Order: sequence, then structure tokens, then C-alpha cells
Amino acid sequence: MEQAMIHVLLFPVPAQGHVRAMLKLADLLHASGFCVTFVNTERSHRRFLESSPPPERPRFRFRTIPDGLPDDDTWRRAAPAGLSADALTFLLFLELFESMRTRSREHYRELLVPADGGRDPDRWPPVACVLADSSVPLAFEVAEELKVPVMNVATNSACSIMAHLAIPELIKRGEIPFPEDADMDEPVRGVAGMESFLRRRDLPSSFREAKSLDDRHLQFRMTVNSNLVRGSALILNTEEHIDSLILPHIRHVCPVTYAPGPPHLLLKSMNCGGVDDTETSSANLFEVDRSCMAWLDSQPDKSVVYVSLGSITVISKETFLEFWHGLVGTGRPFLWVIRRGMVEGGMEVGEMIGDEADVDEAARQRGCFVGWAPQEEVLAHAAVGCFLTHCGWNSTLESMVAGVPMVGWPFFTDQHINSRFVSEVWKVGVDMKDLNGRSVVERMVREVMEGERAEEFRKNASEMALMVKRSSEEGGSSYTSFKNLIEHIKSLSS
Ligand code: UDX
Repeated sequence: MEQAMIHVLLFPVPAQGHVRAMLKLADLLHASGFCVTFVNTERSHRRFLESSPPPERPRFRFRTIPDGLPDDDTWRRAAPAGLSADALTFLLFLELFESMRTRSREHYRELLVPADGGRDPDRWPPVACVLADSSVPLAFEVAEELKVPVMNVATNSACSIMAHLAIPELIKRGEIPFPEDADMDEPVRGVAGMESFLRRRDLPSSFREAKSLDDRHLQFRMTVNSNLVRGSALILNTEEHIDSLILPHIRHVCPVTYAPGPPHLLLKSMNCGGVDDTETSSANLFEVDRSCMAWLDSQPDKSVVYVSLGSITVISKETFLEFWHGLVGTGRPFLWVIRRGMVEGGMEVGEMIGDEADVDEAARQRGCFVGWAPQEEVLAHAAVGCFLTHCGWNSTLESMVAGVPMVGWPFFTDQHINSRFVSEVWKVGVDMKDLNGRSVVERMVREVMEGERAEEFRKNASEMALMVKRSSEEGGSSYTSFKNLIEHIKSLSS
């Protein structure tokens, strides 16, 4: 069979971080000659079309399925009172996965085996392989039922996957759930490769919040674990050098694990059919405000602190103000992404800082705020010297690709463990988790931007960026990994 006629279907979790990572993989497969169907939920796709319509391309199509959730926030009102923002977000995802499991099943089935017996109106060949986000149970269940080969795509970090895979061992050793009033700085034993530096507070939020073994989040993670070994391969959004500590342990459980990341570097270096930026998807669920690029042009090299807490995190006005004061206190210019609705109560920046009388006008002017930035371009800009990040995996990886040192302030999912890896494994920044207050923010940012340690972080970050770049070039590990992945997919359809 001609490679051009091999049809792959990608099915992500309908959330910014997941859709973006999977779309990049989709771009890469498309540029390598595959027919690509990208499944999105109707709600997520609507936002995507409004914010960054994808280019029209032959052999690349989007298909939408309902998510089954009501348009209002019924699920939120039905949630028990007093849940943390993390727990609420997780609850939303559980609702989503459950409703998709029942209400979207037939729509997805129809994409895999059209009701007319396979005579696709677009004359596309049947799906040869599903690349399913490991967090979407439906994606696996239907593909297996219909005997369509599945590969697993994990968009979160390898270190968090390893920690999740260790759940049975941690339970056996009595490490989880944590005892009442646990000392969060106690070391955790039982996660392969991480025993020398992992503390309770560094574990993913499913562990940190679980009160008992029946905890829904913990149980859900066990389901995702079983998905990880379900497919014929695991595809990670990482690269061999970045995760040299972890990948051998993951391969012990998932022997066929590919690490062809980060895809946008590969796209450039493979020059797949002369692909240019107009032929790839920018995958934004929010409208990008490019005005900050001109602002960055006017700042000195390596002077700016870029601040973004990703696409999901919500903070209180008090937290916002502590961070703002901390950033103002550094005396440095800063660029901060405040999404619409990101601060509880929907407050605007001007409203929040209006009453802070102790900060003069010149200091206020050092801050530039946008609703959504072109993050990869921002990180690549010469003016950016530090990334204050929630350590979502995409952001962490993008910062490493750009060689920008980080201050990690994690909120949930894999972010806690990613932030620990930033400081202890990659040594490209500091971990500010569970600390609060303006003086901490100021001190941490200074540590990453001034003095001897800052010099070391910059050096490590530049070396890391160079290694990652090399591995995406011909003969490099990511390049080779992607070629092997292509051969694997081809073998499934022969
Ligand atoms: C979520 C989880 O928070 C994260 O821990 C998990 O690893 C993936 O899913 P999210 O909060 O969206 O992701 O963070 P992240 O993974 O960092 O993804 C955010 C993406 O949005 C990045 O690719 C980033 O470049 C992009 N972004 C962010 C922008 O393009 N502009 C912005 O202003 C902010």
C-alpha cells in the first residue's frame, strides 16, 4: 500500500495542552504522507475555529463529535462544596470522559467504520491506526471493539507517567495515600529512577489529594495506566536526552515507546515535502494577542520575565496581587498572560491593581499583560530571560527548546513533578511549589536571573536546547524515533 494512502486518526482530550500536542503530531504525520483525521469535540472545535482556523489541506480533515455535556455549568453546581480548583477541574474531566463514553460512542464508531460499509464519501481509505490520547477511555474501547490497531499518545510528561505507573508499588509500600498531617518534605520510595530526590509534595496531584485508595482521581489514573499498556506502542512528547533517566523504566513496562519530540522541531528539520508554517496548525483555543511582540522588541536582551500559568489554572485576586507585587519588586519588565476568566470573579487587571497605592507609575509600566500570547515565539525572543510557569508539560518543553530558565509554580496534574525535575534533574531553574507571597516570587525570579546560579541555569538551559535541537536533525534520536514510528504504522496496514 502507498504510504500516501495510509489513514491515521488522532483522538485527543479536548483541552488546549492536549489538542496542541496532538495537532503537532498530526501535522508531522501529514507532512510525512499520511491521511489524517483529527477528532475534536464540537465545543472545543468551535473555539479552535474562532481563535486560529487551521489551514485547508488535502489529506487532512477535522471531524467533530459531541462531548455530551450541557452548555451551562450544571456539573459545577452539582459538585460538592469546598473543592479545590484542582479537584473541580478533575471532576469536569471525569464528567467529560463519562459523557463521551455514552453519548459520543456512535459518532466515533461511525468515523472508524462508516455506516455505508466503508465507502467514505471523501474516498478515504479505512483507518489503519488510531493514535489515542491515553486519558480518553472511549478512544480505546471502540477501536478495540472494531479491531482497529491503537497506539497510545501521552501528552503529559514522562516523569509523571512513571510516577503513575508506580501506583501499585506505592500502595504496596504504604506511601499512598499520605497519612493525616503528612510531612510533605518526606522522601518517597518506590518510583523507579527518582528515589534520591522525590518528596511527597513532588508527586502528581492525584497522589497529593487522595484521601483513600477509593479516591476517584487515583482510580482514574489506574485506568489510564491500563490504557498505556493497551496499545501496540506508546508515543511520548519528549526526547531521549531530556528523559534519559525515565525512559528506560517506562520501556520496562511499555517496551515499544517512541520519543519523537518536540514535533515542531522535527517538522522543520525533516523538511517534509517543504512544509512551511502556513501548512501547519497553530492550535490555539484562545485568540492570540501579538501586540506583546512589539513590546518585547523594545526591551533589552534577557531582561524580561515571561509569566504564564497555562490554559486551565484559575487564581484568586489575592494570589494575583502577591505575584504582581513580587514581579514589580524584581525591578524587571514582565509579560504576563491573564486569560479571560483566569482570575476568580472575572476581574480585570486594571481593576485589581488600581487600589495598590504603594506602587508608583513607572513600576506599573514595567508590566505588559495579554489575554493569550504566541508563547513559542515569545520564548524564542531575545528579550526573554526567565519563564515563570505552572510547568504544564507543553510549556516546560517549549522553555527547554528555547533554552529559557524557569521558575516553576505548579498547580495540578503533572505540574508538581515537572517542577521538581526542572530544579533537580535538568537544573534549568527553581521550584517554587507550595510557596506563596511577594517576597518569595521576587527572590525566586532574582535567583534565576541574577548572579552565579543564574549563570549556571542559563548555561544548562542553552546546552539542553542545543541537545534537543540536534536530536531532531537527521540521525538524531527524535528523528530516528519518528522514522521508526512511521515504519511501525505502515506495518500495521500492510
Ligand atoms: C494541561 C495541564 O495543565 C498540563 O499539566 C498537562 O501537562 C497538559 O495539559 P495546560 O495547562 O494548558 O495543559 O499547560 P501546557 O501543557 O503548558 O500547555 C499550554 C499550551 O498553551 C502551550 O503549548 C503554550 O505554548 C500554549 N500557550 C499558553 C500559548 O500559546 N499562549 C499562551 O498565552 C499560553
